[in-house]
Amino acid sequence: MAEIEVRDIRHVYDQGSPDETVAIERINLTLQDGTANALLGPSGCGKTTLLQIISGLLQPTEGHILIDGEDVTDKPPAERDIAQVFQFPVIYRSMDVYGNLAFPLRNGGVPEAEIESRVHRISELLELDDILHSSPSNLGPELNQLVALGRGIIRADTSAILFDEPMTDVEPSRKLTIRRRVKEAQQEFGITALYVTHDQHEALTFAEQVAIMKDGNLVQYDTGENLYQSPVNTFIGHFIGSPGMNLLECGLSQENGDPHAHLGPHQVPLDSALAPRLDLGWTDCHVGIRPSSVTVQVAEPHEDTGYLPATVDQVEMLGGFQIITATLDHTDVEVKARVAHDFAIDEGASVWLSFPPSDIRFFHDHEAIPA
Ligand SMILES: Nc1ncnc2c1ncn2[C@@H]1O[C@H](COP(=O)(O)OP(=O)(O)OP(=O)(O)O)[C@@H](O)[C@H]1O
Ligand SMILES: [Mg+2]
Repeated sequence: MAEIEVRDIRHVYDQGSPDETVAIERINLTLQDGTANALLGPSGCGKTTLLQIISGLLQPTEGHILIDGEDVTDKPPAERDIAQVFQFPVIYRSMDVYGNLAFPLRNGGVPEAEIESRVHRISELLELDDILHSSPSNLGPELNQLVALGRGIIRADTSAILFDEPMTDVEPSRKLTIRRRVKEAQQEFGITALYVTHDQHEALTFAEQVAIMKDGNLVQYDTGENLYQSPVNTFIGHFIGSPGMNLLECGLSQENGDPHAHLGPHQVPLDSALAPRLDLGWTDCHVGIRPSSVTVQVAEPHEDTGYLPATVDQVEMLGGFQIITATLDHTDVEVKARVAHDFAIDEGASVWLSFPPSDIRFFHDHEAIPA
């Protein structure tokens, strides 16, 4: 497989016409050889456009695509050796599953003996042995998608595989199994993979690194852990996690050199390491805290323990846990907290919330200010 580099790519549809659409503002991204990557973002942010530019189905307005350092921007898809697995599987109904898997190898003039051994390896890995001689017409969409995937990875000389929302047609209960098999194949063959989805769960379970796009820009390309713990801006904080990070509009002050955020009459101490990076004149500031980091206490705490009084508006039972939505007293600041499934709490109850300083993130003009 290969390293794929997206260098200064920009794409404008119908440039110069009244319908002009800037689909990609400017993107730089390098996918390391043999890694699993995901491309995640809201509908219309440019994911499919970027994928088609990488595969060569679309010529970018500006910029270059490099495969292992070689500029392939002017090369047609066939010369890039990039396999694509689409939302709806592309299957040859006139052939059985074996024939479908063997197709790219037969096309490339690979000897039959080698074809047989590769087909069997792929079939074993994707657990297709029992249906090798079935007709695709008799299989459901998810098996067809696995066959399409197998055909994508069967060639030893493929540079990368791009998946565009491949699970759309797959029954929810089967998604995990199929994704696991795809992931195993990705690891076993050292495939450079780019998996497009707007489902964060799918992206985070498949990929080592996830590229998050918004409005034609790449906002953050990072591990799931970093996207969760250190979002670069409020968009990522809110977008990742379910529910996303609490983003609470706040004021700023400093007492004895220690920075504090103000939520109405309430004060939240910030990490003192932030002090040199803050400007007390700033407006448009947000405190970010994950619902899983908010501590909820029902009994009134002793004074000066940093707990904020709040009233519970809503309690949602989500199986293994509950999400509490509470409003800080004397404000309209809403905070979501994740608590255990057996945490006893009623709507309308008074609670005390606290935010551990090391879990607080601070944003100015929606950009993260690292401590
Ligand atoms: N062929 C086209 N002609 C003109 N505009 C297009 C074309 N294809 C996409 N666009 C526009 O470009 C932008 C990016 O579209 P794209 O399909 O790349 O987004 P996406 O992230 O794949 O969305 P989705 O999650 O809905 O698949 C959108 O505003 C879309 O309307
Ligand atoms: Mg798309």
